[in-house]
Amino acid sequence: MILTGRSRLAGVLGWPVGHSRSPRLHNHWLERYGIDGAYVPLPVRPESFASAVTALANLSFLGANVTVPHKEAALRVCDEVTSSARRIGAVNTLFFHDERILGDNTDAYGFIQNLFEGCPKWKATSGPAVILGAGGAARALCVALMDAGAPEILIANRTRTRAEKLADSLSQDSGGERLRIVEWGHWSDMLSGANLLVNATSLGMSGQPPLDIDLSALPGTALVNDIVYAPLETDLLLRARERGNWVVDGLGMLLHQAVPGFTGWFERTPEVDEELRHFVLEG
Ligand SMILES: NC(=O)c1ccc[n+]([C@@H]2O[C@H](COP(=O)([O-])OP(=O)(O)OC[C@H]3O[C@@H](n4cnc5c(N)ncnc54)[C@H](OP(=O)(O)O)[C@@H]3O)[C@@H](O)[C@H]2O)c1
Repeated sequence: MILTGRSRLAGVLGWPVGHSRSPRLHNHWLERYGIDGAYVPLPVRPESFASAVTALANLSFLGANVTVPHKEAALRVCDEVTSSARRIGAVNTLFFHDERILGDNTDAYGFIQNLFEGCPKWKATSGPAVILGAGGAARALCVALMDAGAPEILIANRTRTRAEKLADSLSQDSGGERLRIVEWGHWSDMLSGANLLVNATSLGMSGQPPLDIDLSALPGTALVNDIVYAPLETDLLLRARERGNWVVDGLGMLLHQAVPGFTGWFERTPEVDEELRHFVLEG
């Protein structure tokens, strides 16, 4: 990497931020396309978040990604937010432009692009989607599936009240009437007829127990996605693959969610391909 006086700058704000794969990902793209720029980790304590964003804008950064624990705080520092960010209630991408701060949330985009790319024959409109989990990620998935035209979106969460809060807060939005809460553990009720099953809980992650779900009622035509990507093939994906379902892993969501930020900052739409998947996994 050669930096000049004209290098364009972006980065990722988090606390901590050392685990983030975004610097590796964005700098790989910068190198691949020969762009004079850099993407840097920006560890910032929660109490300093707003002042750090102002400082970055003053330093002529083009923008930044935002990760845990700042995503909700990022919503409040923006002059303008996209419809996705407003509905998801969190911002993961900032653009500094003409002394204004624009906030977007690209998780919904990353999620749906990953499914479209990983399984081109699958259509969101063909039947109900089942989402397991009701945390921040599940919220982005609901928005993505509402926008993609899923006829029904069933949400099951260990803590039912959290799923109810999620559905309530999206109920007024276009497609919100298609959200329905189902009881965690009532696997056959929720899975029979499903066109998509997604794990948006932290179960199945390295160091966590696997997702203990009975898949016997799931139609053979359903797509199964796990947004957990470490490990890449979770127990859920392994079992779904063995019974003949289409499966898509979670890495593509991480890669695709980075595309709108890079495109906006560096004026080049980056490609998500096998070489990138390997490079990011090796890191
Ligand atoms: N691929 C990607 O780009 C991407 C993007 C974002 C997130 N993720 C992954 O998605 C997962 C969820 O992220 P998040 O931000 O939504 O986290 P979060 O807000 O902390 O939510 C965690 C979810 O997991 C559930 N859960 C945790 N332990 C459980 C258990 N023992 N049994 C049943 N449910 C359990 C929680 O249920 P309760 O409400 O009952 O606690 C909640 O629904 C994480 O693994 C994260 O790494 C991946």
